[in-house]
Amino acid sequence: MNRIYGQAVSQREAEQHKWWKEAIVYQIYPRSFKDNDGDGIGDLKGIISKLDYIKSLGVTVIWLNPIYRSPNDDNGYDVSDYRDIMKEFGTMADFDALLKGLHERGIKLVMDLVVNHSSDEHPWFQQSRSSRNSPYRNYYHWWDAERGKPPYRYSLFDVNHDGWRYDSLTNAYYLHYFSRKQPDLNWENPQVRSAVYDIMRFWADKGIDGFRLDAFQFVAKDTTWPVWPAGWEKHFMQYYAMGPHLHDYLKEMNSQVLSRYDVMSVAEGAGNSFADAHALVDADRKELNMAYAFDAVDIPRPGGYSLLTLKGVFTRWDSAFRDKGWLAIFLANHDQARLVSRFGNDSPEFRVVSSKMLSTFVLTMRGTPFYYNGDELGMTNPGFRQISDYRDVAVLNEYKHRQQTGGDLNAYLEEMSFGARDNGRTPMQWDATPNAGFSTGTPWIGVNPNHTTINVAAQERDSSSCLNYFRRLVRVRKNNPVLVYGAYKLLDRDNRQVYAFTRTFGDRIVWVLLNFSALPATTAVRVPGGAVLLIGNYARVSGATLRPYEARVYETQMPR
Ligand code: GLC
Repeated sequence: MNRIYGQAVSQREAEQHKWWKEAIVYQIYPRSFKDNDGDGIGDLKGIISKLDYIKSLGVTVIWLNPIYRSPNDDNGYDVSDYRDIMKEFGTMADFDALLKGLHERGIKLVMDLVVNHSSDEHPWFQQSRSSRNSPYRNYYHWWDAERGKPPYRYSLFDVNHDGWRYDSLTNAYYLHYFSRKQPDLNWENPQVRSAVYDIMRFWADKGIDGFRLDAFQFVAKDTTWPVWPAGWEKHFMQYYAMGPHLHDYLKEMNSQVLSRYDVMSVAEGAGNSFADAHALVDADRKELNMAYAFDAVDIPRPGGYSLLTLKGVFTRWDSAFRDKGWLAIFLANHDQARLVSRFGNDSPEFRVVSSKMLSTFVLTMRGTPFYYNGDELGMTNPGFRQISDYRDVAVLNEYKHRQQTGGDLNAYLEEMSFGARDNGRTPMQWDATPNAGFSTGTPWIGVNPNHTTINVAAQERDSSSCLNYFRRLVRVRKNNPVLVYGAYKLLDRDNRQVYAFTRTFGDRIVWVLLNFSALPATTAVRVPGGAVLLIGNYARVSGATLRPYEARVYETQMPR
């Protein structure tokens, strides 16, 4: 008989047993986590000073956003040296100390790998643009200007939305799907690929435990540069994602690097369909470990969103991945506004309960949870009102674009105060002192004024805080393998207020009841008598009616 955590399981389940499925990933945005040297920018020594805090959360894996040398056009997603550390963040010695400190505490480290593009200040690009005959010319995508203008490609971060940038030095255009300072690498060039694998080996040899492949679904392009049919913008992803040879590249990366180390790999983005996502991560294909799909984080709107839509998305993805492949589960990250402000209710009355309820979902759903720093405090959007509050290249350039094209700037600012990425990037709130204990200098981005009440120090003292609830949730997940390996089943599907589901593994059933609304709610689900409450976000459970944003997690055992 095969056993996982003492539970009898089938042979197939035993083979599928993997550390990265059991992982609880905590994402650290280094720029905003903790500043040690007083320059207003978070750094590696800052993270090191908080290792015991991280350990106290119980999380098992850290995903660190890019810390490589970078001019910071896009906060480190524009790398100018893949083997060195960003000056503001510290030195390689600091990195080594961080990795050691994590490993000593039994925590693994996953690094961002940003290789759809580099910085335009990377020596490869400097060489590439210097001459049409440079040996590095083909590291990037160029279109010689004598051929006229290249077929239009949209750029996500460009002021003019133009993905081709004219460079007079060699009278040619280069491609950049993101900002002008993020030229796209040419993955068709085997030298580029082998240079990337060398970089990956460099970090894997240092002992890191995994890679998150930034924007990887975009790396493969049709380099015949066809003119796309009118209206293609409406199907952006179909034209941009999963281009020719993508899977050849991943298979090569797997055989040359990933399969040779005990590392996990997660792709950002999962293509256009379940089939695309499976093609990235099914174990028998030997490509990546887990897919990170955006459908759910795209749901919230300023006026609210439909719970039925949310349930539908998670349930469809789960059923598509029931037998094969593996998913990351998340509702927030550094590219989203705050969890509680988008998916919950950040009013004083409901912030704490709704934040705990959302954390309950992320930690009880099937898939590896990816949890974003600060959400364990129920941190909220900061309420930025003016363009000068923002730092993100995406927002600044889109604002200019709207200025130049006569767009409605107030409407744009309104939209951004709900959805901009900078909402999730304000400094971690450690205490009630000025700058929230994040820095003794002037923080690179505004501190949320509510740090005087919402902060780690205050929540440490309060046994019912979001922080202490999160720690309990992590323990519940770790102590109950059913929450990792158990099958998911949606219950009470059409209930517009309550998300209810079970997780079943061996003879255990976990019942998760979540009221996603600010009103009391009932559910058709009848949890069997004798069920044990594993965790709940109200002090006492009473009655069948769920109070606003109430979360209850019960366990029962199947009768023998
Ligand atoms: C990914 C990152 C995002 C970055 C972009 C370009 O989407 O998560 O932060 O701006 O790629 O690298």
